[in-house]
Amino acid sequence: MKMLLSLGLLFAALSLGRCIPLQQAPNRSKLLLVSFDGFRWNYDQDVDTPNLDRMAADGVKAKYMTPPFITLTSPCHFTLLTGRYLENHGVIHNMWFDTKTGWRLPYYTTQGISSWWDNGSLPIWITAQRQASEFMECLHPQGLKTGSIHFPGTKAKYRGEEVYMKLVEPALFNYSNETNWRQSIDTVMEWFTVENLDFITLYFGEPDSAGHKFGPESTQRKNMIKQVDRTVGYLRQRIRESGLESNLNLIITSDHGMETVIKSNEIHIGTINNFTFKDLDFELLDYGPNGLMVPKEGKLEHVYSVLKNAHPKLHVYKKEEFPKRFHYANHSRITPLLLYSDPGYVIHGRYKVQFNKGEHGFDNEAMNMKTIFRAVGPAFKKGLVVEPFESVNVYALLCELLGITPEPHDGSLEVTKPMLLGPTDNDSNDSDDSNADTYRLQRPETGTSSTVLSCPGSPRAPGISTRTHGKMGKAVAHKDIQSQGCLKEPDRIPKTSLNY
Ligand SMILES: *[C@@H]1O[C@H](CO)[C@@H](O)[C@H](O)[C@H]1NC(C)=O
Ligand SMILES: *[C@@H]1O[C@H](CO)[C@@H](O)[C@H](O)[C@H]1NC(C)=O
Ligand SMILES: *[C@@H]1O[C@H](CO)[C@@H](O)[C@H](O)[C@H]1NC(C)=O
Ligand SMILES: *[C@@H]1O[C@H](CO)[C@@H](O)[C@H](O)[C@H]1NC(C)=O
Ligand SMILES: *[C@@H]1O[C@H](CO)[C@@H](O)[C@H](O)[C@H]1NC(C)=O
Ligand SMILES: *[C@@H]1O[C@H](CO)[C@@H](O)[C@H](O)[C@H]1NC(C)=O
Ligand SMILES: *[C@@H]1O[C@H](CO)[C@@H](O)[C@H](O)[C@H]1NC(C)=O
Ligand SMILES: *[C@@H]1O[C@H](CO)[C@@H](O)[C@H](O)[C@H]1NC(C)=O
Ligand SMILES: [Zn+2]
Repeated sequence: MKMLLSLGLLFAALSLGRCIPLQQAPNRSKLLLVSFDGFRWNYDQDVDTPNLDRMAADGVKAKYMTPPFITLTSPCHFTLLTGRYLENHGVIHNMWFDTKTGWRLPYYTTQGISSWWDNGSLPIWITAQRQASEFMECLHPQGLKTGSIHFPGTKAKYRGEEVYMKLVEPALFNYSNETNWRQSIDTVMEWFTVENLDFITLYFGEPDSAGHKFGPESTQRKNMIKQVDRTVGYLRQRIRESGLESNLNLIITSDHGMETVIKSNEIHIGTINNFTFKDLDFELLDYGPNGLMVPKEGKLEHVYSVLKNAHPKLHVYKKEEFPKRFHYANHSRITPLLLYSDPGYVIHGRYKVQFNKGEHGFDNEAMNMKTIFRAVGPAFKKGLVVEPFESVNVYALLCELLGITPEPHDGSLEVTKPMLLGPTDNDSNDSDDSNADTYRLQRPETGTSSTVLSCPGSPRAPGISTRTHGKMGKAVAHKDIQSQGCLKEPDRIPKTSLNY
């Protein structure tokens, strides 16, 4: 058998010239990014969460993660997908709006407005589909296969391209149904094992809804955390049952936290002295603590001055003066006037239409806006608690795990690198130690120089475009991948990662 294999290798090497093909390509680690919307950083501290605790013991946990500003669902998820602050990716609100016509669209409808999402930053799905790292290019010249279930941004097209496999929820979707959650997880497992996807994003609309409706300190929110924890247990069980445990990296994170709404001394723009909506061409209010305004021509100074000190919890800025630390206002979609309020206070506009007990959107430095980051899998250290970091850094980590080159972004891999097993770590001592080796093999950019696996000068497979336009047709047969596989220094490959 060994002889045959070597002969096969030699033969293929001769026929291909530049690349020495692997008899069998190593399995690249797959990646699953899960978001539980509105999971405040400390929600696991007043509820029993055995499955989340187990995951932390098996992997990495950040003390908390800081979202970008404004702390809304679509903008913060798009930061996870692009590594950019809102003023750089352009998804500056959950709602699409047009200041000229005054039209606004709610969260769900906005999911389908590609021009809102596709504003200059490519989400990681598209980048992964277009390209693969040098090494992976040999194995996978068509790029990676991605999928997404309900994740904000899934429905849109980016430069005409879209996620390869997607599930978009219907308009009146119940985001809380645990049976649906398990079905989504089963679908993810099928996509990984049957469809052989490399990267999937999975979104759950809780505990956000419970936090809004009943408040972050409510029994209902605590019960929802139990449901989330059961779901994490189910997810990890299904990962094991699907045989994915040793080659799937799992990240569980969220977009923002949740704050109890203060119902006294409320901010009501409509009642502010000398303010009138007649001075505005456009306003976007009644959306938690955030507001955008376009004063009529010549009215900016007036509107600004009447609002500026109208309420001690209300902050009003001209666009150019908005604090730079928020990385929010420097975008063409931001209106000449911006409003935000202190934690707990929401901004009411013409009429009082906000009755939530919990809200987000507040300053991302407020502790109650902080969220979670957990990870487990062959790439990650075990039982490690890391210091807080900004969610703008998650994108670079995802790219690293997938072995793809990031687009320009606002984060840094250095921030999350300490979570990762390096080539010299002997961490996974207890289980089979093939993981670290496999991982090293699969991370050419950060491997030691001797493990940088590439086929220099090797052309992409002829006739195969790297621009996949979402649909790539059938999965590349495993055989095909093998025949394209190439390694410069096959003797350096750890035995354990060759899958004979
Ligand atoms: C590689 O993936 C295949 C198909 O998913 C699986 O059958 C095999 O066990 C994997 N090998 C390793 C070493 O993980
Ligand atoms: C972003 O959207 C704005 C309109 O909302 C548009 O003016 C601008 O050209 C877009 N930028 C890119 C790069 O798509
Ligand atoms: C939850 O979803 C399942 C499957 O879609 C459905 O059969 C069930 O009726 C739903 N439960 C509730 C309470 O809506
Ligand atoms: C959603 O389904 C859950 C049960 O899964 C149920 O308790 C809840 O009332 C439903 N919510 C709505 C808005 O229908
Ligand atoms: C409202 O405007 C009037 C006249 O423009 C001014 O005298 C008054 O001080 C203003 N009141 C407040 C509260 O700004
Ligand atoms: C604002 O954004 C533009 C690009 O849209 C950039 O050139 C400029 O440096 C940014 N300014 C600040 C203060 O970040
Ligand atoms: C890793 O394990 C090898 C043997 O398996 C050992 O020689 C080496 O010292 C270990 N390195 C560290 C950093 O523990
Ligand atoms: C590795 O395992 C040995 C015993 O098998 C143990 O003494 C050592 O502490 C372990 N190292 C790590 C880093 O877990
Ligand atoms: Zn959210």
